[in-house]
Amino acid sequence: MNEKLISGFSKLSKKEKIDWVNTHYGTEDVNANTDDFSVFFHENAAIQEVIDGFSENTISNFILPYGIAPNFLINGVVYAVPMVIEESSVVAAASSAAKFWLSRGGFTSTVLSTVKIGQIHFKWFGDTSLLYRLFPDIKEKLLFDSKHLGANMVKRGGGVTDIELLHLGHLEEGLYQLRVKFETVNSMGANFINTHLESFSSSLKEYFNSSSFLSPEDRELLIIMSILSNYTPECLVTATVSCPVSDFNGIYKDMGAAEFANKFQQAVRIAEIDPYRATTHNKGIFNGIDAVVLATGNDFRAVEAAGHAYAAKDGSYKSLSVCKIENDIFTFSLTLPLAIGTIGGLTHLHPLAKKTLSILGEPDAKMLMQIVASVGLAQNFAAVKSLITSGIQDGHMRMHLMNILVHLQANEEEKSSALQHFSKISVSFSSVREFIDSMRSEK
Ligand code: MEV
Repeated sequence: MNEKLISGFSKLSKKEKIDWVNTHYGTEDVNANTDDFSVFFHENAAIQEVIDGFSENTISNFILPYGIAPNFLINGVVYAVPMVIEESSVVAAASSAAKFWLSRGGFTSTVLSTVKIGQIHFKWFGDTSLLYRLFPDIKEKLLFDSKHLGANMVKRGGGVTDIELLHLGHLEEGLYQLRVKFETVNSMGANFINTHLESFSSSLKEYFNSSSFLSPEDRELLIIMSILSNYTPECLVTATVSCPVSDFNGIYKDMGAAEFANKFQQAVRIAEIDPYRATTHNKGIFNGIDAVVLATGNDFRAVEAAGHAYAAKDGSYKSLSVCKIENDIFTFSLTLPLAIGTIGGLTHLHPLAKKTLSILGEPDAKMLMQIVASVGLAQNFAAVKSLITSGIQDGHMRMHLMNILVHLQANEEEKSSALQHFSKISVSFSSVREFIDSMRSEK
């Protein structure tokens, strides 16, 4: 067998896994590599055990910066928002946008809807009208059989809110979908939804096997799959900022307030009409969204997938934010689906996710949606503001300067001289290297 392959890797201890990786995929210096992994273990063994439990084959922890963007005024309440992100200048940009809007009424955010969707796809080749006639009976059985699964959720005001039968035979012969709507209150709800869908599938099979309304040949039903949909266009939140155009006076060098507002509006308009720009524009929004979603232990892949699908809902991929200027009032809003929770999942298992929710004042899911959407809008405001004024590289590279200095293994004296030297001139990797080299050669 190829020595780079292994069976039973998951059964090895953590130490054995590390040794195996170092031996087969590491550098010559096996001990140094072992240190590379173990140096990131949490010193508290109980916490490390919790983290190890999140995923399989864990051999270390991958550390990302956990930052705070203060001064977020959202619906009249001030928040200091935790953000987990590796990209320089994202937290700084969110903070500066938060501060700008703080004295202009802050962010207004509203949850528009909280419906989540699950789907069961199955194939059946009998008479479609018969299936529609039997559907009320089927629905009753599915709900009855799954009653025990939802008791707690129902107590909290959630549960299954609707089951619809869709015939998709025009797309694929014999194909049907059960589209199930859920209210999952303060949890993201993936487990609740998937458990229900799998129960519905079994009940559906049972119904087809036993119903006296179906002939023996009609009993044949092929369940293909049962899973939640990460597209949640009915789990929507909107965040808005607004101010008189004149409030932009002095926002950048000698640029006038009206020039700034018009250029800003044009930039957002371009992201509405050009998918290439829209993708980057929305990426900037998700810089903020993902960072907060991650800090709260929520599933950022689900949030991204839904957001991008929603951006393409009209048939072409567009900006998630819109900007208008009416009667000299500038208004900038972001609307997007956010299926996130404040209970369940990792939200209270991950020690820092729990801390994040505490810093945010233990919000419910709706409040968290409003906070996350506001940060997304702030991030978008900061990015577009930079793009139409200084460009982003200056600020970005300035924040990146420290990474370059660390990469060049600069000592404290070199770092402080470099910070001073580059405070007024542009930063690039080569200019920093030249500067450090010249300092070193002078010694
Ligand atoms: C960089 O991570 C994000 C931006 O490119 C977003 C944008 O262009 O709007 C600055």
